[in-house]
Amino acid sequence: MDHFEGRAAVITGGGGLLGRGMANRFAAAGMHIVVSDIDGEKAAAVAEQVASDHGVRALAVATDVSDPESVDALAARAYAEFGSVHLLCNNAGAAVLRPFAELTRDDWDRVLGVQFHGVLNGVLAFLPRMIGQGGDAHIVNTSSMSGVGLASLRSLNAPYVTAKFAVVGLSEVMAPAVADAGIGVSVLCPGFTVTDPAGFDGPWSMPSAAWYEHNLLGTEAVADEVFEGVREGRLHIFPHRAGLGEVEGRHELLLEGFRQAARTSPPMEQD
Ligand SMILES: NC(=O)c1ccc[n+]([C@@H]2O[C@H](COP(=O)([O-])OP(=O)(O)OC[C@H]3O[C@@H](n4cnc5c(N)ncnc54)[C@H](O)[C@@H]3O)[C@@H](O)[C@H]2O)c1
Repeated sequence: MDHFEGRAAVITGGGGLLGRGMANRFAAAGMHIVVSDIDGEKAAAVAEQVASDHGVRALAVATDVSDPESVDALAARAYAEFGSVHLLCNNAGAAVLRPFAELTRDDWDRVLGVQFHGVLNGVLAFLPRMIGQGGDAHIVNTSSMSGVGLASLRSLNAPYVTAKFAVVGLSEVMAPAVADAGIGVSVLCPGFTVTDPAGFDGPWSMPSAAWYEHNLLGTEAVADEVFEGVREGRLHIFPHRAGLGEVEGRHELLLEGFRQAARTSPPMEQD
């Protein structure tokens, strides 16, 4: 999608770090913004700042992305206000950091409810409307390096990793399936992102502080990359270049599985 001016974008989790960054980046390109967040006050504060800094229209809508009815109401409101929506960023997020064996069903439901069902609810509410408006729209689903990298690095974050892998799968299967309807799909896979990398001093959730040296970006840099990814229609958006090593590591893990299989059993016949 390369036309932004005067069109509407909806951003879930828009009251948070990355959501605010994306709201500002797309507003800078002339888009009107629907800032949606479960925390209505945070959404309102971002909407006010975006409208005043960029001279666009910005609307705050309190939404619980884990609730399909709430997301449908968000879509209805956005379409009532703007007539069409050309960009949806399914970005709301939550995590429960806990040793795997101590995780409860509630922990799993909570994280998957926001991080996976939140994205799916966004797709189910907006896709038919976007197709109905004649396409020419784009959906960005926020996953993470946690969704494409080495799960073993994140053993305290199991529901999050599981949901982020699912968001990658959903986006990859969806992109070719809706391309003919004129809908672009991207999956955003950031590494660690903070407001100000220069002033960051923890918390250190990854195994070593050294890991952060090449894996820490500010929200503006990530938002710039999202903008370019949408403009170019990239399927995967990888703002953190250092993530490449992790992706290679994960693929090496898969290849090792094939090597193990080759050692213990004859190859299956190809047809
Ligand atoms: N910051 C990072 O390092 C990083 C890295 C990779 C991926 N991500 C992903 O980026 C996205 C945004 O994260 P962030 O860093 O801006 O976090 P954040 O906590 O600053 O923002 C997340 C926002 O989502 C909102 N939210 C939580 N539950 C919700 C719900 N049920 N319905 C609607 N809104 C809800 C919160 O109120 C918050 O404003 C998340 O999906 C996160 O997993 C973040």
